[in-house]
Amino acid sequence: MATVLAIETSCDETAVAIVKNRHVISSIVSSQIAIHRQYGGVVPEVASRQHVEIVNQAIAQSLTESGLGWSDIDAIAATCAPGLVGALLVGLTAAKTLALVHQKPLIGVHHLEGHIYASYLTDPTLEPPFLCLLVSGGHTSLIYVKECGVYEILGQTRDDAAGEAFDKVARLLNLGYPGGPILDRLATEGNPKAFPLPEGKVSKPEGGFHRYDSSFSGLKTAVLRLTQTLQQSGQPLPVNDIAASFQATVAKALTRRAIACALDYGLNTIVVGGGVAANSGLRQHLQDVASQHNLRVLFPPMKFCTDNAAMIGCAAAEHFEKGHRSPLTLGAQSRLPVSDVMKLYGSNANSHSAD
Ligand code: KG4
Ligand code: ZN
Repeated sequence: MATVLAIETSCDETAVAIVKNRHVISSIVSSQIAIHRQYGGVVPEVASRQHVEIVNQAIAQSLTESGLGWSDIDAIAATCAPGLVGALLVGLTAAKTLALVHQKPLIGVHHLEGHIYASYLTDPTLEPPFLCLLVSGGHTSLIYVKECGVYEILGQTRDDAAGEAFDKVARLLNLGYPGGPILDRLATEGNPKAFPLPEGKVSKPEGGFHRYDSSFSGLKTAVLRLTQTLQQSGQPLPVNDIAASFQATVAKALTRRAIACALDYGLNTIVVGGGVAANSGLRQHLQDVASQHNLRVLFPPMKFCTDNAAMIGCAAAEHFEKGHRSPLTLGAQSRLPVSDVMKLYGSNANSHSAD
């Protein structure tokens, strides 16, 4: 049983956790949303500076809450890709320093692999193979989870990520940031059939595209046109109906692809992760359609869906058990496909500080 101290600073949450295999011992998450809200989105330089302010305090707090000492910790982990390079470097540098000072192995973790491992924290008995639908502000991915470190990307977004689409639609309706929770709340008061909107068809897969890809930029443009047309009528904007129609369309698009993918690949479990996994419309629709096909859907609780370090520690614990180690020269990378996670381990691990 490996005990890992993990750090996550890839975007706008400074998070530190101590995890024993698939069980969380302590988990600290400090969100910067309130700071970035005034800019309508995450400002990378502000995020990095904020991580520097918070990270040491979060490490100390996590250790205190766990009741453990450094001698109980087997390895130090940090998210090293993908994400904002400046932000990633803060957590990775802290982890390298701790590894060096306390003579512990370093384990770099791919952020999306962390999101996959969030489902093991929810159900420690879960075992691959399964399909992961990862829907956040930066990603919309369908990942075939074969075993630890072995992932195949079966679908991605060709433009906006699902959460990004929620945020952009909320912005064009002047509703604030982040848009997902706001639209979700308004949608409960609206009619999802009020306005037919396009789900976003994607062309045939070619040149690196996948069969189960999604596209949300057309939907976003359709909402913009609809809003402009409605505004010309001079009537108050039916914001609840727009929110409900938009949300139902996103839920249908994601569900259609996830179910088709699971059935085509013979996978009977779909786990969902990322901030958009909180969406009530998606939860309801995916659950309904999955049960019609006898598929199991696992929605982790929100604290494991949004960015946290417990999921990073959980992934690291399994890599540790398998003997995977990262060199202290490991660099932060803004992009790295989840299918390439094994590049983070062994003597060939990436040693560049940015891509
Ligand atoms: O996973 P996450 O916390 O951060 C990353 O992007 O990595 O996801 C944040 C995204 C935002 O775009 C936010 O608008 C969206 O998740 N979100 C939601 C809901 N709660 C958060 N989208 C739809 N419905 C929600 N209830
Ligand atoms: Zn994330």
